[in-house]
Amino acid sequence: GDGLETYETDVVIIGAGIAGLYTALMLPKTMRIWIVSKADARETNSYLAQGGIAAAMIKAYDSPIMHYEDTLKSGHYTNNPLSVKILVEEAETNIHQLEAFGVHFDQDIKGQYLMGMEGAHRVARILRIGDHTGKSVMEVLIERVKAAQNIHWVDAFFGTALLVAEKKCFGVQGNLNRQCMRIFSKWTVLATGGIGHLYSYTSNAMGIDGSGIAMAMRAGAQTAHINLTQFHPTVFYTPNLEGRQFLISEAVRGEGAILRNQSGERFMMKYDERMELAPRDVVSAAIESEMALQSEPFVYLDVTHLSKSFLMNRFPVIYEFCSTQGISMEKDWIPVAPRLHYFMGGIKTDLVGKTSLDALFAVGECAHTGVHGMNRLASNSLLEAVVFGRRIAKAIEIMDTDNESQVERALSETIEIPEFDLSQAVLQGWMDTYMGINRDPVKLKKCYNQICELIQRPRETHRVDSEAISIETMSIYNALIMMKAMVYDALKEFDHNDKI
Ligand code: SIN
Repeated sequence: GDGLETYETDVVIIGAGIAGLYTALMLPKTMRIWIVSKADARETNSYLAQGGIAAAMIKAYDSPIMHYEDTLKSGHYTNNPLSVKILVEEAETNIHQLEAFGVHFDQDIKGQYLMGMEGAHRVARILRIGDHTGKSVMEVLIERVKAAQNIHWVDAFFGTALLVAEKKCFGVQGNLNRQCMRIFSKWTVLATGGIGHLYSYTSNAMGIDGSGIAMAMRAGAQTAHINLTQFHPTVFYTPNLEGRQFLISEAVRGEGAILRNQSGERFMMKYDERMELAPRDVVSAAIESEMALQSEPFVYLDVTHLSKSFLMNRFPVIYEFCSTQGISMEKDWIPVAPRLHYFMGGIKTDLVGKTSLDALFAVGECAHTGVHGMNRLASNSLLEAVVFGRRIAKAIEIMDTDNESQVERALSETIEIPEFDLSQAVLQGWMDTYMGINRDPVKLKKCYNQICELIQRPRETHRVDSEAISIETMSIYNALIMMKAMVYDALKEFDHNDKI
Protein backbone atom coordinates (compact mmCIF):
# COMPACT_ATOMS: atom_id res chain seq x y z
CA GLY A 1 0.00 0.00 0.00
CA ASP A 2 0.92 3.65 -0.25
CA GLY A 3 -0.30 4.73 3.16
CA LEU A 4 -3.65 6.08 2.03
CA GLU A 5 -6.59 5.48 4.26
CA THR A 6 -8.63 2.71 2.72
CA TYR A 7 -12.04 1.27 3.47
CA GLU A 8 -14.03 -1.61 2.04
CA THR A 9 -17.73 -1.98 1.52
CA ASP A 10 -20.25 -3.72 -0.71
CA VAL A 11 -21.74 -0.67 -2.40
CA VAL A 12 -20.56 2.91 -2.49
CA ILE A 13 -23.07 5.51 -3.65
CA ILE A 14 -21.76 8.93 -4.58
CA GLY A 15 -24.34 11.66 -4.09
CA ALA A 16 -27.11 12.29 -1.57
CA GLY A 17 -30.05 13.51 -3.60
CA ILE A 18 -33.19 11.43 -4.09
CA ALA A 19 -31.39 9.07 -6.52
CA GLY A 20 -28.62 8.22 -4.07
CA LEU A 21 -30.74 7.90 -0.93
CA TYR A 22 -33.54 5.93 -2.57
CA THR A 23 -31.12 3.50 -4.22
CA ALA A 24 -29.44 2.94 -0.84
CA LEU A 25 -32.78 2.19 0.80
CA MET A 26 -33.81 -0.25 -1.94
CA LEU A 27 -30.67 -2.38 -1.60
CA PRO A 28 -30.82 -5.47 0.62
CA LYS A 29 -30.33 -4.75 4.33
CA THR A 30 -27.63 -7.42 4.35
CA MET A 31 -25.34 -5.27 2.22
CA ARG A 32 -22.91 -2.78 3.66
CA ILE A 33 -23.47 0.55 1.96
CA TRP A 34 -21.59 3.80 2.03
CA ILE A 35 -23.14 7.04 0.83
CA VAL A 36 -20.54 9.70 0.19
CA SER A 37 -21.50 13.20 -0.81
CA LYS A 38 -19.81 16.50 -1.43
CA ALA A 39 -22.64 18.50 0.10
CA ASP A 40 -25.28 17.97 2.73
CA ALA A 41 -28.45 16.22 1.51
CA ARG A 42 -30.33 19.44 2.18
CA GLU A 43 -28.16 21.25 -0.38
CA THR A 44 -29.21 19.17 -3.36
CA ASN A 45 -31.44 19.84 -6.36
CA SER A 46 -33.79 17.12 -5.12
CA TYR A 47 -34.31 19.07 -1.91
CA LEU A 48 -35.21 22.19 -3.93
CA ALA A 49 -37.71 20.43 -6.20
CA GLN A 50 -40.97 22.32 -6.16
CA GLY A 51 -43.42 20.97 -8.73
CA GLY A 52 -43.51 17.28 -7.88
CA ILE A 53 -43.37 13.79 -9.31
CA ALA A 54 -45.24 12.84 -12.48
CA ALA A 55 -47.19 9.56 -12.28
CA ALA A 56 -50.43 8.41 -13.93
CA MET A 57 -52.09 7.47 -10.63
CA ILE A 58 -55.66 8.50 -11.43
CA LYS A 59 -57.09 5.80 -13.64
CA ALA A 60 -60.36 7.68 -14.23
CA TYR A 61 -58.67 10.04 -16.68
CA ASP A 62 -55.04 8.99 -17.00
CA SER A 63 -52.89 5.99 -17.90
CA PRO A 64 -49.20 5.05 -18.23
CA ILE A 65 -49.73 5.07 -21.99
CA MET A 66 -50.81 8.71 -21.95
CA HIS A 67 -47.82 9.56 -19.77
CA TYR A 68 -45.62 7.64 -22.24
CA GLU A 69 -47.00 9.60 -25.20
CA ASP A 70 -46.58 12.97 -23.47
CA THR A 71 -43.00 12.13 -22.47
CA LEU A 72 -42.05 11.14 -26.04
CA LYS A 73 -43.77 14.14 -27.60
CA SER A 74 -42.07 16.57 -25.20
CA GLY A 75 -38.73 14.91 -26.00
CA HIS A 76 -39.36 15.34 -29.76
CA TYR A 77 -39.38 11.55 -30.09
CA THR A 78 -35.63 11.38 -29.49
CA ASN A 79 -36.18 9.45 -26.22
CA ASN A 80 -35.46 5.76 -25.90
CA PRO A 81 -39.00 4.30 -26.08
CA LEU A 82 -38.01 1.27 -24.00
CA SER A 83 -36.75 3.31 -21.09
CA VAL A 84 -39.79 5.59 -21.25
CA LYS A 85 -42.03 2.52 -21.11
CA ILE A 86 -40.24 1.40 -17.96
CA LEU A 87 -40.46 4.90 -16.49
CA VAL A 88 -44.24 5.17 -16.83
CA GLU A 89 -45.06 1.55 -16.04
CA GLU A 90 -42.98 1.39 -12.87
CA ALA A 91 -44.08 4.81 -11.64
CA GLU A 92 -46.94 3.53 -9.50
CA THR A 93 -44.87 0.88 -7.67
CA ASN A 94 -42.26 3.44 -6.73
CA ILE A 95 -44.82 6.03 -5.63
CA HIS A 96 -46.27 3.39 -3.30
CA GLN A 97 -42.76 2.58 -2.09
CA LEU A 98 -42.20 6.26 -1.25
CA GLU A 99 -45.51 6.22 0.61
CA ALA A 100 -44.43 3.11 2.48
CA PHE A 101 -41.33 5.02 3.59
CA GLY A 102 -43.62 7.70 4.97
CA VAL A 103 -44.07 10.25 2.17
CA HIS A 104 -47.54 11.78 2.12
CA PHE A 105 -48.57 13.40 -1.14
CA ASP A 106 -51.31 16.07 -1.04
CA GLN A 107 -54.80 14.57 -1.02
CA ASP A 108 -58.33 15.85 -0.67
CA ILE A 109 -60.57 14.89 2.26
CA LYS A 110 -61.72 11.78 0.37
CA GLY A 111 -58.13 10.58 0.04
CA GLN A 112 -57.89 11.41 -3.69
CA TYR A 113 -54.53 12.74 -4.80
CA LEU A 114 -54.51 16.46 -5.53
CA MET A 115 -52.72 16.42 -8.85
CA GLY A 116 -50.79 19.39 -10.20
CA MET A 117 -50.69 20.44 -13.85
CA GLU A 118 -47.47 21.29 -15.69
CA GLY A 119 -46.36 22.04 -19.24
CA ALA A 120 -46.88 19.43 -21.99
CA HIS A 121 -48.87 17.08 -19.74
CA ARG A 122 -52.33 16.52 -21.22
CA VAL A 123 -53.83 15.91 -17.81
CA ALA A 124 -53.07 16.82 -14.20
CA ARG A 125 -50.66 14.07 -13.10
CA ILE A 126 -48.13 15.75 -10.83
CA LEU A 127 -48.07 14.34 -7.30
CA ARG A 128 -47.07 17.15 -5.01
CA ILE A 129 -46.57 18.30 -1.49
CA GLY A 130 -47.39 22.01 -1.64
CA ASP A 131 -44.61 23.66 -3.60
CA HIS A 132 -41.94 21.89 -1.55
CA THR A 133 -42.27 18.31 -2.81
CA GLY A 134 -38.52 17.73 -2.90
CA LYS A 135 -37.93 18.90 0.64
CA SER A 136 -40.77 16.81 2.04
CA VAL A 137 -39.69 13.65 0.20
CA MET A 138 -36.04 14.15 1.08
CA GLU A 139 -36.73 14.66 4.80
CA VAL A 140 -38.42 11.24 4.87
CA LEU A 141 -35.56 9.57 3.00
CA ILE A 142 -32.89 11.27 5.12
CA GLU A 143 -34.53 9.98 8.27
CA ARG A 144 -34.79 6.45 6.85
CA VAL A 145 -31.17 6.41 5.74
CA LYS A 146 -29.96 7.72 9.10
CA ALA A 147 -31.92 4.95 10.84
CA ALA A 148 -30.58 2.17 8.58
CA GLN A 149 -27.95 0.05 10.34
CA ASN A 150 -26.33 -1.04 7.10
CA ILE A 151 -25.81 2.44 5.65
CA HIS A 152 -22.80 4.55 6.54
CA TRP A 153 -23.12 8.17 5.45
CA VAL A 154 -20.23 10.55 5.04
CA ASP A 155 -20.72 14.06 3.79
CA ALA A 156 -18.05 16.60 2.95
CA PHE A 157 -16.46 13.83 0.89
CA PHE A 158 -15.26 15.17 -2.44
CA GLY A 159 -14.72 12.43 -5.01
CA THR A 160 -11.61 12.97 -7.09
CA ALA A 161 -11.39 9.74 -9.09
CA LEU A 162 -13.10 6.44 -9.68
CA LEU A 163 -10.90 3.42 -9.03
CA VAL A 164 -10.88 1.67 -12.36
CA ALA A 165 -8.79 -1.05 -13.94
CA GLU A 166 -9.48 -2.93 -17.14
CA LYS A 167 -12.84 -1.28 -17.62
CA LYS A 168 -14.04 -2.30 -14.21
CA CYS A 169 -14.82 0.00 -11.32
CA PHE A 170 -13.86 -0.98 -7.81
CA GLY A 171 -14.62 2.09 -5.80
CA VAL A 172 -13.90 5.75 -5.45
CA GLN A 173 -11.15 7.93 -4.16
CA GLY A 174 -11.63 11.35 -2.69
CA ASN A 175 -10.86 13.89 -0.03
CA LEU A 176 -12.33 13.95 3.41
CA ASN A 177 -11.12 16.72 5.70
CA ARG A 178 -8.15 17.33 3.41
CA GLN A 179 -7.16 13.68 3.69
CA CYS A 180 -7.01 11.51 0.61
CA MET A 181 -8.91 8.27 1.06
CA ARG A 182 -10.09 5.28 -0.95
CA ILE A 183 -13.27 3.33 -0.62
CA PHE A 184 -13.11 -0.06 -2.28
CA SER A 185 -16.47 -1.52 -3.20
CA LYS A 186 -18.00 -4.35 -5.15
CA TRP A 187 -20.35 -1.92 -6.78
CA THR A 188 -20.24 1.82 -7.28
CA VAL A 189 -23.26 4.02 -7.99
CA LEU A 190 -22.91 7.56 -9.29
CA ALA A 191 -25.80 9.81 -8.25
CA THR A 192 -24.01 13.13 -8.50
CA GLY A 193 -26.62 15.27 -10.28
CA GLY A 194 -26.32 17.70 -13.14
CA ILE A 195 -24.23 20.62 -14.29
CA GLY A 196 -26.02 23.86 -13.23
CA HIS A 197 -23.09 25.89 -12.00
CA LEU A 198 -21.10 25.40 -15.18
CA TYR A 199 -23.32 28.39 -16.03
CA SER A 200 -23.51 31.61 -14.08
CA TYR A 201 -27.30 31.72 -13.99
CA THR A 202 -28.94 28.54 -12.75
CA SER A 203 -31.75 27.29 -10.56
CA ASN A 204 -29.44 24.53 -9.29
CA ALA A 205 -28.17 24.04 -5.76
CA MET A 206 -24.68 25.38 -5.08
CA GLY A 207 -21.90 22.97 -5.95
CA ILE A 208 -23.77 21.22 -8.76
CA ASP A 209 -21.19 21.50 -11.51
CA GLY A 210 -20.90 18.22 -13.40
CA SER A 211 -17.89 17.02 -11.39
CA GLY A 212 -19.28 13.49 -11.01
CA ILE A 213 -19.92 13.19 -14.73
CA ALA A 214 -16.43 14.50 -15.51
CA MET A 215 -14.96 11.97 -13.07
CA ALA A 216 -16.78 9.16 -14.90
CA MET A 217 -15.60 10.45 -18.27
CA ARG A 218 -12.01 10.55 -17.04
CA ALA A 219 -12.38 6.93 -15.96
CA GLY A 220 -13.50 6.01 -19.48
CA ALA A 221 -17.27 5.69 -19.01
CA GLN A 222 -19.32 6.48 -22.10
CA THR A 223 -21.64 9.46 -22.11
CA ALA A 224 -24.58 10.33 -24.33
CA HIS A 225 -26.19 13.55 -25.59
CA ILE A 226 -24.03 15.73 -23.44
CA ASN A 227 -24.86 18.87 -25.39
CA LEU A 228 -28.47 18.65 -24.22
CA THR A 229 -29.35 21.23 -21.58
CA GLN A 230 -32.75 22.40 -20.39
CA PHE A 231 -33.55 25.98 -19.50
CA HIS A 232 -36.45 26.47 -17.13
CA PRO A 233 -38.66 29.25 -18.53
CA THR A 234 -39.51 30.97 -15.28
CA VAL A 235 -36.68 31.55 -12.86
CA PHE A 236 -36.95 34.68 -10.72
CA TYR A 237 -35.02 37.43 -12.45
CA THR A 238 -32.23 39.15 -10.61
CA PRO A 239 -29.16 40.81 -12.11
CA ASN A 240 -27.16 39.35 -9.22
CA LEU A 241 -25.10 36.38 -10.37
CA GLU A 242 -24.18 35.19 -6.92
CA GLY A 243 -25.44 31.82 -5.80
CA ARG A 244 -28.54 30.04 -6.95
CA GLN A 245 -31.45 31.66 -8.74
CA PHE A 246 -34.89 31.05 -7.27
CA LEU A 247 -37.30 28.92 -9.32
CA ILE A 248 -40.91 29.90 -9.91
CA SER A 249 -42.41 26.45 -10.43
CA GLU A 250 -44.05 25.44 -13.66
CA ALA A 251 -46.97 24.46 -11.42
CA VAL A 252 -47.69 28.21 -11.15
CA ARG A 253 -48.40 28.23 -14.89
CA GLY A 254 -50.30 25.00 -14.25
CA GLU A 255 -52.64 27.06 -12.06
CA GLY A 256 -53.14 29.63 -14.82
CA ALA A 257 -50.21 32.07 -14.67
CA ILE A 258 -49.80 34.24 -17.76
CA LEU A 259 -46.53 35.34 -19.34
CA ARG A 260 -46.33 39.00 -20.36
CA ASN A 261 -43.60 40.96 -22.09
CA GLN A 262 -42.37 44.35 -20.93
CA SER A 263 -45.25 46.06 -22.75
CA GLY A 264 -47.64 43.98 -20.69
CA GLU A 265 -48.75 41.89 -23.68
CA ARG A 266 -49.44 38.19 -23.43
CA PHE A 267 -47.24 36.71 -26.15
CA MET A 268 -47.32 32.89 -26.05
CA MET A 269 -50.06 32.69 -28.71
CA LYS A 270 -47.47 33.87 -31.25
CA TYR A 271 -45.40 30.77 -30.51
CA ASP A 272 -47.58 27.79 -29.57
CA GLU A 273 -51.26 27.00 -29.26
CA ARG A 274 -50.61 25.36 -25.88
CA MET A 275 -49.61 28.84 -24.70
CA GLU A 276 -47.97 28.99 -21.24
CA LEU A 277 -48.25 25.21 -20.92
CA ALA A 278 -46.32 24.35 -24.06
CA PRO A 279 -43.24 22.17 -23.51
CA ARG A 280 -40.43 23.82 -21.60
CA ASP A 281 -38.06 24.26 -24.54
CA VAL A 282 -40.80 26.00 -26.55
CA VAL A 283 -41.69 28.39 -23.71
CA SER A 284 -38.04 29.20 -22.95
CA ALA A 285 -37.28 29.90 -26.62
CA ALA A 286 -40.37 32.11 -26.87
CA ILE A 287 -39.30 34.12 -23.81
CA GLU A 288 -35.75 34.49 -25.20
CA SER A 289 -37.19 35.78 -28.40
CA GLU A 290 -39.49 38.32 -26.63
CA MET A 291 -36.57 39.48 -24.51
CA ALA A 292 -34.43 39.93 -27.63
CA LEU A 293 -37.21 41.81 -29.48
CA GLN A 294 -37.54 44.25 -26.61
CA SER A 295 -33.87 44.26 -25.58
CA GLU A 296 -34.90 43.51 -22.02
CA PRO A 297 -33.41 40.97 -19.65
CA PHE A 298 -36.69 39.52 -18.37
CA VAL A 299 -40.44 39.10 -18.89
CA TYR A 300 -43.25 38.86 -16.34
CA LEU A 301 -45.32 36.08 -14.85
CA ASP A 302 -48.78 37.30 -13.91
CA VAL A 303 -51.01 35.53 -11.35
CA THR A 304 -52.86 38.63 -10.19
CA HIS A 305 -56.19 37.03 -11.17
CA LEU A 306 -55.69 34.50 -8.32
CA SER A 307 -56.48 35.29 -4.71
CA LYS A 308 -53.93 35.87 -2.00
CA SER A 309 -55.28 33.03 0.12
CA PHE A 310 -55.16 30.57 -2.79
CA LEU A 311 -51.61 31.58 -3.69
CA MET A 312 -50.33 31.46 -0.10
CA ASN A 313 -51.91 28.09 0.41
CA ARG A 314 -50.90 26.48 -2.89
CA PHE A 315 -47.41 28.04 -3.18
CA PRO A 316 -46.23 28.85 0.34
CA VAL A 317 -42.50 28.77 -0.45
CA ILE A 318 -42.79 30.81 -3.63
CA TYR A 319 -45.17 33.29 -2.01
CA GLU A 320 -42.76 33.80 0.86
CA PHE A 321 -39.77 34.23 -1.44
CA CYS A 322 -41.60 36.80 -3.60
CA SER A 323 -42.52 38.71 -0.42
CA THR A 324 -38.86 38.98 0.52
CA GLN A 325 -38.32 40.54 -2.92
CA GLY A 326 -41.07 43.10 -2.34
CA ILE A 327 -43.55 41.29 -4.57
CA SER A 328 -47.09 40.36 -3.57
CA MET A 329 -48.10 37.69 -6.04
CA GLU A 330 -51.78 38.67 -6.00
CA LYS A 331 -50.90 42.27 -6.92
CA ASP A 332 -47.53 42.35 -8.67
CA TRP A 333 -46.14 40.67 -11.75
CA ILE A 334 -43.10 38.51 -11.10
CA PRO A 335 -39.95 39.18 -13.18
CA VAL A 336 -38.70 35.92 -14.70
CA ALA A 337 -36.17 34.69 -17.25
CA PRO A 338 -35.05 31.29 -18.57
CA ARG A 339 -32.15 29.79 -16.63
CA LEU A 340 -30.14 26.58 -16.82
CA HIS A 341 -32.19 24.03 -14.92
CA TYR A 342 -31.53 20.48 -16.05
CA PHE A 343 -29.08 18.29 -17.94
CA MET A 344 -30.59 15.71 -20.29
CA GLY A 345 -27.21 14.30 -21.25
CA GLY A 346 -25.14 12.17 -18.96
CA ILE A 347 -23.34 8.92 -18.29
CA LYS A 348 -24.78 6.37 -20.64
CA THR A 349 -26.60 3.50 -18.96
CA ASP A 350 -28.60 0.46 -19.92
CA LEU A 351 -32.09 -0.29 -18.61
CA VAL A 352 -30.80 -1.33 -15.19
CA GLY A 353 -28.58 1.70 -14.77
CA LYS A 354 -25.31 -0.01 -15.66
CA THR A 355 -22.69 2.16 -17.34
CA SER A 356 -20.14 1.04 -19.94
CA LEU A 357 -17.73 0.15 -17.09
CA ASP A 358 -18.24 -3.06 -15.12
CA ALA A 359 -19.64 -2.67 -11.62
CA LEU A 360 -20.35 1.04 -12.19
CA PHE A 361 -23.93 2.34 -12.21
CA ALA A 362 -25.35 5.82 -12.68
CA VAL A 363 -28.76 7.13 -11.61
CA GLY A 364 -30.70 10.37 -11.64
CA GLU A 365 -29.62 13.50 -13.45
CA CYS A 366 -26.00 12.39 -13.95
CA ALA A 367 -27.24 9.35 -15.89
CA HIS A 368 -28.49 9.15 -19.44
CA THR A 369 -31.12 6.42 -19.50
CA GLY A 370 -32.74 7.88 -22.59
CA VAL A 371 -36.04 8.75 -20.91
CA HIS A 372 -35.95 12.47 -21.60
CA GLY A 373 -34.83 12.83 -25.19
CA MET A 374 -34.11 16.42 -26.23
CA ASN A 375 -36.46 17.99 -23.72
CA ARG A 376 -37.43 16.52 -20.37
CA LEU A 377 -41.11 16.56 -19.51
CA ALA A 378 -41.80 18.46 -16.30
CA SER A 379 -41.60 16.41 -13.08
CA ASN A 380 -40.17 13.33 -14.79
CA SER A 381 -36.78 13.76 -13.14
CA LEU A 382 -37.61 12.71 -9.58
CA LEU A 383 -39.56 9.86 -11.15
CA GLU A 384 -36.56 8.74 -13.19
CA ALA A 385 -34.41 8.78 -10.03
CA VAL A 386 -36.69 6.41 -8.12
CA VAL A 387 -37.62 4.11 -11.00
CA PHE A 388 -34.03 3.51 -12.06
CA GLY A 389 -32.68 3.60 -8.49
CA ARG A 390 -34.91 0.64 -7.68
CA ARG A 391 -33.80 -1.14 -10.85
CA ILE A 392 -30.15 -0.69 -9.93
CA ALA A 393 -30.79 -2.06 -6.44
CA LYS A 394 -32.53 -5.13 -7.89
CA ALA A 395 -29.74 -5.67 -10.42
CA ILE A 396 -27.02 -5.48 -7.77
CA GLU A 397 -28.94 -7.87 -5.54
CA ILE A 398 -28.71 -10.69 -8.04
CA MET A 399 -25.30 -9.91 -9.49
CA ASP A 400 -22.08 -11.77 -8.82
CA THR A 401 -18.81 -9.99 -8.42
CA ASP A 402 -15.18 -10.82 -8.00
CA ASN A 403 -14.31 -7.27 -7.08
CA GLU A 404 -12.97 -8.29 -3.68
CA SER A 405 -9.75 -9.39 -5.30
CA GLN A 406 -9.25 -5.90 -6.73
CA VAL A 407 -8.36 -4.23 -3.49
CA GLU A 408 -4.60 -4.42 -4.03
CA ARG A 409 -4.67 -2.71 -7.38
CA ALA A 410 -3.05 0.65 -7.64
CA LEU A 411 -4.37 3.61 -9.50
CA SER A 412 -2.13 6.19 -11.06
CA GLU A 413 -4.11 8.84 -12.81
CA THR A 414 -2.16 12.00 -13.27
CA ILE A 415 -4.07 15.12 -14.11
CA GLU A 416 -2.57 18.24 -15.52
CA ILE A 417 -4.29 21.41 -14.44
CA PRO A 418 -3.85 24.33 -16.77
CA GLU A 419 -2.13 27.07 -14.87
CA PHE A 420 -4.43 29.96 -15.41
CA ASP A 421 -5.61 32.92 -13.51
CA LEU A 422 -9.15 32.58 -14.78
CA SER A 423 -11.78 32.00 -12.20
CA GLN A 424 -14.73 29.65 -12.62
CA ALA A 425 -16.75 32.82 -13.38
CA VAL A 426 -14.96 33.31 -16.69
CA LEU A 427 -15.74 29.75 -17.75
CA GLN A 428 -19.36 30.21 -16.66
CA GLY A 429 -19.54 33.33 -18.83
CA TRP A 430 -18.44 31.27 -21.85
CA MET A 431 -21.19 28.72 -21.18
CA ASP A 432 -23.81 31.49 -20.85
CA THR A 433 -22.69 33.05 -24.10
CA TYR A 434 -22.09 30.03 -26.29
CA MET A 435 -24.08 27.16 -24.84
CA GLY A 436 -27.36 28.95 -24.16
CA ILE A 437 -30.76 28.42 -25.76
CA ASN A 438 -29.65 29.70 -29.15
CA ARG A 439 -26.38 28.25 -30.38
CA ASP A 440 -24.25 29.33 -33.30
CA PRO A 441 -21.74 26.96 -34.88
CA VAL A 442 -19.19 29.65 -35.65
CA LYS A 443 -19.21 30.94 -32.09
CA LEU A 444 -19.19 27.41 -30.69
CA LYS A 445 -16.07 26.66 -32.73
CA LYS A 446 -14.43 29.74 -31.27
CA CYS A 447 -15.38 28.66 -27.78
CA TYR A 448 -14.06 25.15 -28.43
CA ASN A 449 -10.73 26.56 -29.56
CA GLN A 450 -10.55 28.77 -26.47
CA ILE A 451 -11.10 25.75 -24.21
CA CYS A 452 -8.51 23.66 -26.05
CA GLU A 453 -5.99 26.47 -25.89
CA LEU A 454 -6.56 26.79 -22.16
CA ILE A 455 -6.11 23.08 -21.62
CA GLN A 456 -2.81 23.21 -23.51
CA ARG A 457 -1.25 26.03 -21.49
CA PRO A 458 1.68 25.34 -19.14
CA ARG A 459 0.42 23.15 -16.36
CA GLU A 460 0.70 22.20 -12.77
CA THR A 461 0.69 18.47 -12.37
CA HIS A 462 -1.13 16.58 -9.66
CA ARG A 463 -1.08 12.89 -8.83
CA VAL A 464 -4.74 12.17 -8.20
CA ASP A 465 -3.93 8.98 -6.33
CA SER A 466 -1.67 10.43 -3.68
CA GLU A 467 -2.64 14.01 -3.04
CA ALA A 468 -5.59 15.71 -1.50
CA ILE A 469 -6.27 18.01 -4.43
CA SER A 470 -8.24 21.11 -3.54
CA ILE A 471 -11.90 21.15 -4.50
CA GLU A 472 -11.33 24.40 -6.39
CA THR A 473 -8.51 22.98 -8.51
CA MET A 474 -10.31 19.75 -9.22
CA SER A 475 -13.56 21.57 -10.04
CA ILE A 476 -11.87 23.79 -12.60
CA TYR A 477 -10.28 20.75 -14.17
CA ASN A 478 -13.59 18.88 -14.25
CA ALA A 479 -15.36 21.96 -15.62
CA LEU A 480 -12.92 22.15 -18.53
CA ILE A 481 -13.38 18.44 -19.27
CA MET A 482 -17.17 18.84 -19.26
CA MET A 483 -17.16 22.03 -21.30
CA LYS A 484 -14.86 20.62 -23.94
CA ALA A 485 -17.07 17.55 -24.35
CA MET A 486 -20.33 19.53 -24.30
CA VAL A 487 -19.20 22.15 -26.82
CA TYR A 488 -17.75 19.48 -29.07
CA ASP A 489 -21.03 17.58 -28.98
CA ALA A 490 -23.01 20.75 -29.67
CA LEU A 491 -20.82 21.42 -32.70
CA LYS A 492 -21.30 17.89 -33.98
CA GLU A 493 -25.03 18.51 -33.89
CA PHE A 494 -24.57 21.24 -36.51
CA ASP A 495 -22.35 19.04 -38.68
CA HIS A 496 -25.00 16.41 -38.46
CA ASN A 497 -27.72 18.80 -39.56
CA ASP A 498 -25.52 20.23 -42.29
CA LYS A 499 -26.09 23.68 -40.88
CA ILE A 500 -22.43 24.58 -40.63
C1 SIN B 1 -40.90 23.06 -11.45
O1 SIN B 1 -41.45 23.01 -10.35
O2 SIN B 1 -41.21 23.86 -12.34
C2 SIN B 1 -39.78 22.13 -11.73
C3 SIN B 1 -40.32 20.88 -12.25
C4 SIN B 1 -39.26 20.16 -13.01
O3 SIN B 1 -38.11 20.61 -13.14
O4 SIN B 1 -39.60 19.12 -13.58
